[in-house]
Amino acid sequence: MASNQTIRLLLIFFLAFSAAANNCSTKPLTLPIGNVTLGNGVAVNRGVYVKLGNQVTSLRLTTNLNNTGVRNALDCDLLNSTARTVCLGASGSIYAPESSNTWRQVSPDEFASNVSTIDTHAVGETVIVGYETAKFSSNVEVKGYPLEVWSNLTSTNRSGLAIGSGSSFLQKLLSVSAAPSRAFGLFYGSRSQSRPTDGALTIGGIDLARLKGRWSNHSAGMQGLDYSCPLQVRIKDIRLNNTKGSFSLLADPQLTVPACIDPQQNAFTFTQAIYNLWSNFTGHPANGSLPGEPPFTSQTYPKDREPLIGTLTVTLDDGFETIIPHYELLSEERGNDAQGRYAVVNASRVMAAVSNDETLPVPILGGVYLSQNYLFVDYDKGTFHLATADLDTHDQDIVPICEGGATPSPSHGSRRLSGRKIAGIAVGVAAVVLIALALALWWARYRTRQDGAPRDGTSQKETPQNGTSQNGTSRDEASQGGTHKDAELEPNERRQELPTSAPS
Ligand SMILES: *[C@@H]1O[C@H](CO)[C@@H](O)[C@H](O)[C@H]1NC(C)=O
Ligand SMILES: *[C@@H]1O[C@H](CO)[C@@H](O)[C@H](O)[C@H]1NC(C)=O
Ligand SMILES: *[C@@H]1O[C@H](CO)[C@@H](O)[C@H](O)[C@H]1NC(C)=O
Ligand SMILES: *[C@@H]1O[C@H](CO)[C@@H](O)[C@H](O)[C@H]1NC(C)=O
Ligand SMILES: *[C@@H]1O[C@H](CO)[C@@H](O)[C@H](O)[C@H]1NC(C)=O
Ligand SMILES: *[C@@H]1O[C@H](CO)[C@@H](O)[C@H](O)[C@H]1NC(C)=O
Ligand SMILES: *[C@@H]1O[C@H](CO)[C@@H](O)[C@H](O)[C@H]1NC(C)=O
Ligand SMILES: *[C@@H]1O[C@H](CO)[C@@H](O)[C@H](O)[C@H]1NC(C)=O
Ligand SMILES: *[C@@H]1O[C@H](CO)[C@@H](O)[C@H](O)[C@H]1NC(C)=O
Ligand SMILES: *[C@@H]1O[C@H](CO)[C@@H](O)[C@H](O)[C@H]1NC(C)=O
Ligand SMILES: *[C@@H]1O[C@H](CO)[C@@H](O)[C@H](O)[C@H]1NC(C)=O
Ligand SMILES: *[C@@H]1O[C@H](CO)[C@@H](O)[C@H](O)[C@H]1NC(C)=O
Repeated sequence: MASNQTIRLLLIFFLAFSAAANNCSTKPLTLPIGNVTLGNGVAVNRGVYVKLGNQVTSLRLTTNLNNTGVRNALDCDLLNSTARTVCLGASGSIYAPESSNTWRQVSPDEFASNVSTIDTHAVGETVIVGYETAKFSSNVEVKGYPLEVWSNLTSTNRSGLAIGSGSSFLQKLLSVSAAPSRAFGLFYGSRSQSRPTDGALTIGGIDLARLKGRWSNHSAGMQGLDYSCPLQVRIKDIRLNNTKGSFSLLADPQLTVPACIDPQQNAFTFTQAIYNLWSNFTGHPANGSLPGEPPFTSQTYPKDREPLIGTLTVTLDDGFETIIPHYELLSEERGNDAQGRYAVVNASRVMAAVSNDETLPVPILGGVYLSQNYLFVDYDKGTFHLATADLDTHDQDIVPICEGGATPSPSHGSRRLSGRKIAGIAVGVAAVVLIALALALWWARYRTRQDGAPRDGTSQKETPQNGTSQNGTSRDEASQGGTHKDAELEPNERRQELPTSAPS
């Protein structure tokens, strides 16, 4: 029967289509970033949940390191119980290697042969290295996970999950097939006081539902800065708007200044020169002191300065603009309370998400900067991208980014990043196929009933082909109504790159 043939043709077409698309055998790994209650059941840290052996940690992300580093629990053990809880929260997780029977310490030399680098540590910091079994929140378990355990009673360092360019975390996930590639998408979420939001780190994928507007493109890796940071941008302007007006924090508006993106600290960390202007325009108490008041830190202010800490607009050299809203920039004074939580410690003072470091050669754009942006990093391609984040969406539209796609080329990234269009096409194709199947069935019935002159079946066979090639644009837009906004994408040659998990 003609209709059977039609159906078979359509099926063959459909299967061939999905086979060509099937290049990512591993699904992207999405790890939530949020509050995790630590070992003693009291302290809380905002980070990525990682269970190291038998111990729960919650690690902050940092792009400046290559190996996961946790503070040795001994640093806090020496203290009384209240101080221990504070220490636990302030360290952003601790770990006791001697209490875990899956920990295997190795010599630095053996460690160095398995990881790309050993991170530099502060002089006097004691560091032991080895392997542990790491469990992530989606029940992904990784044996032989490389770990640096450091100890220093006075250091203000925090424990961190390293997502630097030589990250052994990303490398390990790839080597045990827990992620399809080292590329990652990050929605940082927010640590603001009034609108805290959980974030998500997607390894080997990108959450297109979070994207708004176009990409701002950058080269990853060291750009000749004498400062270790793989995510460097050039800033054209940092502008403070407040009740007194609009002020640039860059002394020379003709120049662009390099900056690093690193979410380890939530606040912006400005160089002294930028901070001096900021503190002047925001009315920070000179030298941090006011008569009859305990000293202010570089971040804290008397409450009446609130209107001066308005919004901050960061403009990159390509014109990409990020507006940090007032609620992200300002909170009541927060710190680690006696419960080891990050909480309000003095409601009579306000605190800005801007600090300074006179030793820094470049400003650091911390978590607050990423609270408004989606970050996508592909070290293998040497690129990273920023786009305005959709803060209101409740959708997830995760598209895998696979290792060594079909046709690596300089423009490869653009096609890889066009996942939503791909998904749109896939949905479109599936819809066309389904409609064609229904038509074919209807036609078969119609023929058995009517037995009249056959209609022209060819146009139906061709429908799906037309649907795919012609339709990257229109179908896709249809499928994007609602919350999705478009990242700029060109609909060319996208068929070979259909992701496996494209909705269908
Ligand atoms: C615990 O230690 C801290 C300093 O480490 C001290 O200020 C505090 O008074 C001690 N608390 C108790 C109950 O001993
Ligand atoms: C600890 O802090 C020092 C100095 O601030 C820094 O050089 C070092 O990289 C940090 N180490 C870790 C593991 O964060
Ligand atoms: C601890 O770290 C600080 C600064 O990070 C450093 O100055 C000091 O030498 C270190 N001390 C020890 C005992 O590790
Ligand atoms: C580290 O490398 C050595 C050889 O250099 C190998 O024998 C060992 O299994 C590796 N360990 C892990 C956990 O990958
Ligand atoms: C991380 O690894 C990359 C690539 O191996 C290297 O260029 C960078 O210096 C390393 N970073 C640190 C802090 O060691
Ligand atoms: C800041 O003020 C300038 C000058 O009035 C204005 O052009 C800009 O849109 C303002 N930015 C924000 C975020 O309000
Ligand atoms: C600090 O701000 C005042 C006005 O608020 C201005 O007159 C002064 O020039 C500023 N100082 C610097 C160093 O920018
Ligand atoms: C701030 O400190 C410097 C020196 O430390 C001093 O010369 C200056 O007078 C101080 N300013 C105020 C307003 O106290
Ligand atoms: C995380 O915990 C802090 C207290 O440490 C709380 O203020 C905040 O609302 C929590 N975040 C979320 C998203 O619930
Ligand atoms: C809290 O802030 C107020 C206003 O600056 C100050 O008077 C008070 O001493 C502060 N309390 C503490 C415990 O620092
Ligand atoms: C995807 O396909 C390319 C070429 O066909 C191949 O080189 C690559 O290894 C594949 N990637 C995965 C994750 O299967
Ligand atoms: C930025 O990168 C994306 C993806 O690689 C590409 O589609 C787009 O054209 C690039 N935009 C600019 C302005 O270069």
